Amino acid sequence: MKLGIFGVGYVGLVTAVCLADKGHSIFIHDTAKEKIATLQSGGVPIFEEGLEQILHQNRNRLSFTHDARKVISECEIIFICTGTPQDEKGNADLSQVESAVNEITSHSLSDKIIVIKSTVPPGTTEQMEQLANKQTSATNFLFVHNPEFLRQGKAVYDFMNPSRIILGASDKKAQEILKNIYSAWDAPILQTDSKSAELLKYAANSFLAMKISYINMISQLSDSLGTNIDDIASGIGLDPRIGSDFLKTGIGFGGSCFPKDLKALENAAADNGVELPFIGQTLDINEKQGDFFFEKIKAYGEDLKNKKITMLGLSFKPKTDDIRSAPSIVLSEKLLNEGARVTAFDPLVRDFPIEGVHMVHSFESAIIDTDITVIVTEWDDFNQLFRAENMKRMKQPPVIFDGRNMFTLEEVRRIADQHPLHYESIGRPKVSSLGVKKQIFV
Ligand code: UGA
Repeated sequence: MKLGIFGVGYVGLVTAVCLADKGHSIFIHDTAKEKIATLQSGGVPIFEEGLEQILHQNRNRLSFTHDARKVISECEIIFICTGTPQDEKGNADLSQVESAVNEITSHSLSDKIIVIKSTVPPGTTEQMEQLANKQTSATNFLFVHNPEFLRQGKAVYDFMNPSRIILGASDKKAQEILKNIYSAWDAPILQTDSKSAELLKYAANSFLAMKISYINMISQLSDSLGTNIDDIASGIGLDPRIGSDFLKTGIGFGGSCFPKDLKALENAAADNGVELPFIGQTLDINEKQGDFFFEKIKAYGEDLKNKKITMLGLSFKPKTDDIRSAPSIVLSEKLLNEGARVTAFDPLVRDFPIEGVHMVHSFESAIIDTDITVIVTEWDDFNQLFRAENMKRMKQPPVIFDGRNMFTLEEVRRIADQHPLHYESIGRPKVSSLGVKKQIFV
């Protein structure tokens, strides 16, 4: 089939190349001219594992165009994958989705199925369908909400191996056409109304975020009791009613989805006179988890002024260059406010918006002569931190704050037997060679 895509962010571009891989011809439009120009010249505007390869394999089935009307005239089915960022009140800003819908409906000469993939508040698809069909009686527009559950960093894999496909629409015919397209995937397909599909997406993200905040909340108690949060999470997760995913403690969740989706859901509920206390608390715990980690560093260092602090990892999670709502942003600001000299290295992030953070381009140069090394994102590249040559690079004895519990306590204790060090993580006892603190901060 000929399918259109509006918006080439993570969701749009991955949807486009994966649909092309299943044999469809895809016409892609984005209002950002530079993104389309990059794609037309063979480049890929975002980093995502496997994306470049699958894009090049399907190049002959992908057309990138600045001209929205070309997509509209060629395609009967158009997927809207534009962003729904947070506005100043915390609501989902629907302007990009609205303008895509307006563009399609005002230039269509034939009936269309419009598939909203963007995360939108309950009721949006229904309202857009009504508005679109009010404008003209010459053409008919059927709307489907088809939420996307892919994770950044694993987007191509997730799109190709979905746990479920949700088709929310009032019209069965549109659902059946979409069902046919998705029959190439081996996943259960759930058909529902569009409003339920919209709430389902928010509820799924909120539940995952709630699991993270839950384990982070317990990690603070574990920290003060001297127990091991990783063992606790493993023990909880072995109960199949709970499951082990999203129970990894850390310095909090970030990214372009969880923080904004939870806030949007809270606001959408408030508009309906409903309180969702879990949601507010999930966000609150998340913010406090970052503060908790910072306070640990501060408590250790006492005076961080002029100390070299190295942040390892800036992206909101590994395998992406995305720093939207990344915990690294708030942490670096707090460290700079204490007068620390902050150096940072991330395998993919090149531009970091916080002035005063000194970016370096190699792991080795980041840790040279550093007073405190802070693991912010658990990139595999940092597994080498405890190698003898790296231990020697840091000021002696090395002081490491691991915000992602990258290393097991057994590993760290084994290293500490051979090389004096001070290691703190989240929700677990410290590993500290006697007298380390005195040696560093005299
Ligand atoms: C999330 C959902 O997982 C996807 O299903 C959804 O499609 C997507 O949002 C979206 O709405 O578009 P994503 O934001 O890419 O995907 O990343 P996740 O892998 O979910 O991680 C989110 C944050 O939670 C990261 O900062 C990560 O470090 C943190 N996290 C995750 C933890 O702190 N602990 C965990 O156990 C898992």
